[in-house]
Amino acid sequence: MKRRRLITGGLAASALIGGGAWLRPAARAEPHDRYFADLQTLMQRDGPGTACLVLDLDRLNHNLIALRENMPAGKHYRLVSKSLPCPDLIEQVLVTMHSNRIMCFHQPFANLLARDFPDSDLLLGKPMPVPAAERFYQRLHPGRFDPQRQLQWLVDTPARLAAYAELARAQNLRMRISIEIDVGLHRGGVDNDSDFVAMLRMLRDNSRHLRLSGFMGYDPHVVKLPAPLGSPDALQQLANARYEHYIRLLRREAPDLLTLQQDLPMVFNGAGSPNFVLHDERAPTNDLAIGSALLKPSDFDLPTLEAFRPALWITTPVLKSSAGPELPGVEWAQWPARLWNPNLTRSHFIYGGNWMADAHSPAGLAPNPLFGRSSNQEMLTSAPAADLAPGDWVFLRPRQSEALMLQFGPLYVVQAGALVDRWPVFVPA
Ligand SMILES: Cc1ncc(COP(=O)(O)O)c(C=O)c1O
Repeated sequence: MKRRRLITGGLAASALIGGGAWLRPAARAEPHDRYFADLQTLMQRDGPGTACLVLDLDRLNHNLIALRENMPAGKHYRLVSKSLPCPDLIEQVLVTMHSNRIMCFHQPFANLLARDFPDSDLLLGKPMPVPAAERFYQRLHPGRFDPQRQLQWLVDTPARLAAYAELARAQNLRMRISIEIDVGLHRGGVDNDSDFVAMLRMLRDNSRHLRLSGFMGYDPHVVKLPAPLGSPDALQQLANARYEHYIRLLRREAPDLLTLQQDLPMVFNGAGSPNFVLHDERAPTNDLAIGSALLKPSDFDLPTLEAFRPALWITTPVLKSSAGPELPGVEWAQWPARLWNPNLTRSHFIYGGNWMADAHSPAGLAPNPLFGRSSNQEMLTSAPAADLAPGDWVFLRPRQSEALMLQFGPLYVVQAGALVDRWPVFVPA
């Protein structure tokens, strides 16, 4: 039988020499700068010895100031809990922003938030299937949180609203309903007048059980579309116009729904980190949901968020560092590979890996496309100057915070060069 080769032909050769570049790449490697060298010292002294997340409290505070300075006037701040899924972090942000408003995307976390933040105002950020909504009530912790007043379910279609009405009748519930409107993203929400008006009628017909609480129209596409499709400001005005259209329709078709609960003003939610700064006085929103900007993972390196700084790092120890890369089956190839691409001179195996993140410090580390990714012990290659050894720590910058923040244990909270706390993250019930 022929021995299987791990790599073959031209594809392998081009990958070895660095993604098919024909020119010899320059060596890229720099040791940790002062900031990361200090974090490494902290980890070596007080770290868990395994991959973990570091939250830089000084940078978080910087970002909170940036948020306060950039928050458009007259809008309420709502914290996006999926992007900051850690009760201590949520507490810190809500206190600084003088807000009790939270957006939530996952039923078990809605229950945790209702228990741990009994004075919060919770708005669902996605429509919960009816069994999940039912489960929320079954699991509701007895306490101050009153879902009748403090929870807004998000509903996107007449069919889902009918199912919610049935649930509310069967369980004798009063549910506040926020209508999701499609203002251009097309991820979900009502996108035509007849469905919208049908939902208003249903709300009126079921007023013993369902109350309109407002709208949610998410619109981050305005900063993400290619320039020929319009400037962010022009695209924001289009999204605003769609939002206003539904507010006008509500006033015309069902003004009574607007006045039913005067003690609970209508919530017109919109935006996200990428475009909240564009929700100025021209936007009909009064409530802006923002989470990720406060930690600024790399997906949020956007012109609208220039004032914010990365505040969250993955850090992990190096387990083995050697001249390499030694690829199984083609060990001979390391010499030509190194000669061609000096960034393949050393290989470092780290504790864990394959996260939604990019190697950040020391500069010049990269996964090896031929060796492949590993969630257990990932190989990172580098130029000779990245002189790492077992016991050294590397830092990776997350691309996003949601989901990723639940993959590690508690956050290691650092401030002024010291490890000051460990903050547990959400654990679903
Ligand atoms: C409905 C909704 N609002 C707001 C946000 C903004 O969250 P972030 O600020 O973390 O991007 C999101 C993110 O997915 C969302 O789905």
